[in-house]
Amino acid sequence: MNTRAIGIFDSGLGGLTILKTLSQVLPKEKYIYFGDTANTPYGSKSQATVTRFSLDIARFLESQKVKLIVVACNTASALALADLQKQISVPVIGVIKPGSLKAVQSSKNGKVAVIATEATVQSKAYPKELLRLDKRLKVTQQACPLFVPLIEEGWTHKEGGEAIIADYLAPVIKSGADTVILGCTHYPVIKSKISKKLGKSVRLVDAAEVLAEEVQTRLTNTHQLNKKGRGSLKIYASDAPSRFKRLAKHILGRELKQVYLKKLN
Ligand code: DGL
Repeated sequence: MNTRAIGIFDSGLGGLTILKTLSQVLPKEKYIYFGDTANTPYGSKSQATVTRFSLDIARFLESQKVKLIVVACNTASALALADLQKQISVPVIGVIKPGSLKAVQSSKNGKVAVIATEATVQSKAYPKELLRLDKRLKVTQQACPLFVPLIEEGWTHKEGGEAIIADYLAPVIKSGADTVILGCTHYPVIKSKISKKLGKSVRLVDAAEVLAEEVQTRLTNTHQLNKKGRGSLKIYASDAPSRFKRLAKHILGRELKQVYLKKLN
């Protein structure tokens, strides 16, 4: 047994959707979450910059003696995972592989669409992984750069918000995909809105459940599962912790006790 915490990070708040599922599957674990609110959004930045931010966070989590790091950000997983795995001494798990695997298992017509940030789309991380798993797939990508601010500001239910969602999803509908990957950790927050636009026959894939299973399997196989813990959560934000706390309520559905300020760069 290993009672050390699991480290988890995102460019900001989106990774809380992953944390929520992870802590439901593994409630006895301790979690340290880092939201890089000083540097968000990652989705419009270069690979070099996202890698630098991600390495700084992973080193901080390493200094907190975590036993494993979950990159709960699609953009950081797409752009920085290989460097993190090379340079960090504990195992680092990203969201691209689990999400792709679930999509391949779900698709019946062989057409999969990915909606994500601009940087994730440009990296082609999802098409590469999907085609590695099944080279016959037809993969469509759509960048939705306005989704993150709409979600954070609670604008998705307004008329303008609805119109933007419809606009971004039109090419996805046209592609005929029966499976759509929510390739950004913010998007599960508007899952029902996306589903309404795409129709009931389209399956939405969010990586959280498969990722949680992967973490569980890894910790079990290496005898590191915390079987007797009571579960705990410590949250750090690199800027504006009170804003983080306020917005986190939309995602977690509960009030956070405290968010600590931790500046890294
Ligand atoms: N959470 C990030 C992701 O999953 C998106 C937000 C951002 O652009 O920083 O890609």
